[in-house]
Amino acid sequence: MEILLILLVYFPIISPFRDQVVGVRGKLSCNNRFLQGATVRLIEKNYVGPDVILAENKTNYQGAYQVVGRGRGMLEMNVYLRLFHDCDDAIIPCQRTVSLRIPSSYISRGTAVNNYFEAGTMNMAFRYPDEQRSCTDRIFS
Ligand SMILES: *[C@@H]1O[C@H](CO)[C@@H](O)[C@H](O)[C@H]1NC(C)=O
Repeated sequence: MEILLILLVYFPIISPFRDQVVGVRGKLSCNNRFLQGATVRLIEKNYVGPDVILAENKTNYQGAYQVVGRGRGMLEMNVYLRLFHDCDDAIIPCQRTVSLRIPSSYISRGTAVNNYFEAGTMNMAFRYPDEQRSCTDRIFS
């Protein structure tokens, strides 16, 4: 709190509630086919409090997606791309999910995305090191 006050007093030009924006686009595949209908989320992870869903989209018939997340605040957002999918998942219930951090240089001030993070084509048959399973996407969407 003290640090916050000092920042506000000495750097009055920095508005504490400046707009922030982040855009990510790419394609998902599953082995040799496009991965359609996968859920793509931008999530803000905070040091305190629960994660915030900034934006959500689904991959189209070509596996393509685009998500744009917006927020406000003095501190730079800590944003992850979270993917939910059933690639190579056999009949196991729920979905595979993985969270990948967006480099902070792609979090910009303002409301329009000038510099999309190009995630490229990702083959979700890959087993990512920090993969988890999620059942919530199916139940609540
Ligand atoms: C969702 O992704 C599709 C495919 O890239 C894109 O055309 C569409 O604009 C996206 N929707 C939103 C709300 O970003």
